Amino acid sequence: MILERKNFMNFDKLNSNLKRTVGAPQIKEMQKLTQLYQLGEGGANEIGTKLENLDSEFQVNHDHNPIHHMEERMKDMQSLAEKLRRKGYKLTIENVQKHIFDVAGIRVVTNYIDDVYLIEKLLVNQSDVTLVRRKDYIKNPKPSGYRSLHVVVSVPVFQAEGSQDVNVEIQIRTVGMDMWASLEHKLRYKTDIDDKLVAQYGEQLHDYADELANIEVKMQGIYKHLNDYDS
Ligand code: GTP
Ligand code: MG
Repeated sequence: MILERKNFMNFDKLNSNLKRTVGAPQIKEMQKLTQLYQLGEGGANEIGTKLENLDSEFQVNHDHNPIHHMEERMKDMQSLAEKLRRKGYKLTIENVQKHIFDVAGIRVVTNYIDDVYLIEKLLVNQSDVTLVRRKDYIKNPKPSGYRSLHVVVSVPVFQAEGSQDVNVEIQIRTVGMDMWASLEHKLRYKTDIDDKLVAQYGEQLHDYADELANIEVKMQGIYKHLNDYDS
């Protein structure tokens, strides 16, 4: 299983850029934002390691890898600012802490649907992990057909001055759901495509999401049967 870490911050570079580009009163605020990112990165790393450990335990004890691969990412600052504006909040550290749950994020791509809920259960049951928010778009897909389990968990990150609880958003989905979301995302963000074609592909993708979900359940059935098979 591969854990890919994306967009991680070079804090030295960020700080020296800040000193050159913003005025003295803003530097303090921006330094707080840098600290927030540094903490978030710590939280994502903690969760990433927990998930790697769970996956390797399953490999050893059950000869099964629930996780196909994972991607860790930090929200870029531009999307962070846009999201706050969209939600109607000013760009302040307090608002980021209170209203944005996905500064640090991990996408966990599992082999089968049962693995999505297995991973969630094993992670949330850990004594230092607290469930903050949960949205099950597998049981209740979005109107587009999008499926994924979104959970926000809080995990302590140990710093020089003690530990701080950090929110990490985890999107858990199967390989099929991930493949679907990548293609649908492409359609959504391609601005140069004809509106009619976007609508037509959108409808097709909606149907394909259902079909994929059915096929994944059936394939999981075969997988389980093969695993339990005694001749
Ligand atoms: P916030 O509190 O604003 O973060 O809302 P949220 O986390 O509830 O938003 P949501 O649950 O809609 O999840 C947002 C993320 O899920 C996006 O950044 C996408 O990665 C993914 N997502 C949600 N809906 C879709 C969809 O219809 N298509 C695709 N491709 N991805 C989606
Ligand atoms: Mg979100």
